[in-house]
Amino acid sequence: MAGQQRDISVSEFFAKNRHLLGFDNKRKALLMTVKEAVDNALDACEEAGHLPDIEVRITQIAEERFRVLVRDNGPGIVKQQIPNVFGKLLYGSKFHRLKMSRGQQGIGISAAGMYGLLTTGKSIRIVSRTSPKKEAHHYEIQIDTRKNLPNIVKEATVEVPWPSGTEVEIELVASYTKGRQSVDEYLEQTAIANPHARIVYSPPTGDPVVFPRGTDVLPAQTEAIKPHPYGVELGHLIKMLHETRSHWLTGFLQTEFCRIGPKVAEEICRRARLNPRAHPKRIARQEAEKLYHAIQDTRLMAPPTNCLAPIGAEQILTGLLKGVKAEFFTASTRPPAVYRGNPFQIEVGLAYGGALGRDPRHDEAEPVEVTGSLRGKGKVNGNGPPPATARVIRFANRVPLLYQQSACCIFKTVIDLDWRRYNLSQSTGALPQAPLVIMVHMASVWVPFTSESKEAIADYDEIRAEIKLALQDCARKLSAYLNRRKQQKYQGERRNIFLKYIAEVAAACQALDRRIDRQALIDDLTAMATKVTAQADEVLDDHGRPVVPDTSSGAEFGENTVVVDPDAPPEPGSFQLAS
Ligand SMILES: Nc1ncnc2c1ncn2[C@@H]1O[C@H](COP(=O)(O)OP(=O)(O)O)[C@@H](O)[C@H]1O
Ligand SMILES: [Mg+2]
Repeated sequence: MAGQQRDISVSEFFAKNRHLLGFDNKRKALLMTVKEAVDNALDACEEAGHLPDIEVRITQIAEERFRVLVRDNGPGIVKQQIPNVFGKLLYGSKFHRLKMSRGQQGIGISAAGMYGLLTTGKSIRIVSRTSPKKEAHHYEIQIDTRKNLPNIVKEATVEVPWPSGTEVEIELVASYTKGRQSVDEYLEQTAIANPHARIVYSPPTGDPVVFPRGTDVLPAQTEAIKPHPYGVELGHLIKMLHETRSHWLTGFLQTEFCRIGPKVAEEICRRARLNPRAHPKRIARQEAEKLYHAIQDTRLMAPPTNCLAPIGAEQILTGLLKGVKAEFFTASTRPPAVYRGNPFQIEVGLAYGGALGRDPRHDEAEPVEVTGSLRGKGKVNGNGPPPATARVIRFANRVPLLYQQSACCIFKTVIDLDWRRYNLSQSTGALPQAPLVIMVHMASVWVPFTSESKEAIADYDEIRAEIKLALQDCARKLSAYLNRRKQQKYQGERRNIFLKYIAEVAAACQALDRRIDRQALIDDLTAMATKVTAQADEVLDDHGRPVVPDTSSGAEFGENTVVVDPDAPPEPGSFQLAS
């Protein structure tokens, strides 16, 4: 056995375990490749303050072979870094900082490149330019998986028509289908959560699709933060003590963590019975443990939250209005909260009704033509289209999460909520039976994914609690709208019944007592019926929904709420989320 022991490089490991990175089947491989490249493109553009203009082109070259090209208008990558970024796993600028970004592990685009290389033997091709004054660099790179190092196959300078940015091209064995969990769905959801980006997508078949920019406002620039003391584990604290450049324990605490000033640092040392002037490198394991407990016992301010840039309720509405055809939209953003020392923020958007389908609780089934023995009796209420089931769309730092739904904290919280309290049908432990799209976004400096493929969010109590509060806030607004709809419809029906009998009642009264003026009685009763059922005067459309003339209304159901006419023609640039 001794003769067989040897090191395993990360790339060898992930080449064998590519499913851990999300490359477990051909369809998903295509999605992951596009996703890694587009996530990087958006990250790069935002960090450089450029409004993202992204091109995604997928070309089919054989039955199961595709070429993926993604180009951005970001800041480009300096020449010396290009080989490492694309030819080395676990290499990146985002792992060692606590900052809100899409990538974090440094294992995204290089893994996609490695998958391409393994399945087709073709190098990953990169062209990158850092400024219009500089020339663009062209590279063809392979990964030496044995050593986890780039192998440069070709290197040249080239002319390109664009001033700055990066173009990545990967050839891979894959398959393409539309619908749920496809590249198309990923890009549609990306457009919803990133209304500041313009994306031009050329799928393998059919015409190019343009997702236009919905706003010229970039997400707020975020700051990287230092770790919060409550989030640090003992082993990590010991490592930090060894690696610090500070010479004093108090200095170490102040420079390596956020929310520790001189006074608090002294207090922690006092609690731990350690000398504030002790050299951090000489702190023994037992002392480190005392320090650890002293930190946990000291009252500290929550971490700063300027490191978070939520999408914002208004932009969520913009995104949903663009990609979901519904009648009622609402959104809400929670204040920042903290899990394991990491700040995070939850946002929820709901879209209800309209083209999303029938609600068994509120809409009657569409009448169907009756054939056979009942023929001739006209239309009766039949089964109509099947009742719709709610759908959850999940996002982490603006990236759509398309797989592992049931393992995700977001999904679990959605099904655990009692939606029946909000006027919707639901079986226990299931999604509500309603034409509803539930969008949930978690923004954080560190998203706790359950695996390297970044598909599901781990189940922290703090995160669950925030998701629940945001869902409840939106559900309350939806419930107010549904209540109103129900009331109006009920009052309308009531009035119809009154009006139907008023003439008969007046005639009967006159028959009993000749002195009664029949017409005057009709007028009086009609006025009374109208007053009693006043709510029905708000006009209802054919489907029993209140007709709202312009999209700015909805405010009466709560903040950040919009009601639209579902039958109005679509706005330019809008699309319908893949189903
Ligand atoms: N399109 C791009 N423009 C600029 N920099 C990029 C681009 N793509 C990748 N990078 C750089 O390469 C690094 C590695 O990317 P990646 O392997 O996807 O890991 P991660 O995004 O998790 O850091 C990134 O951290 C970033 O610094
Ligand atoms: Mg990445």
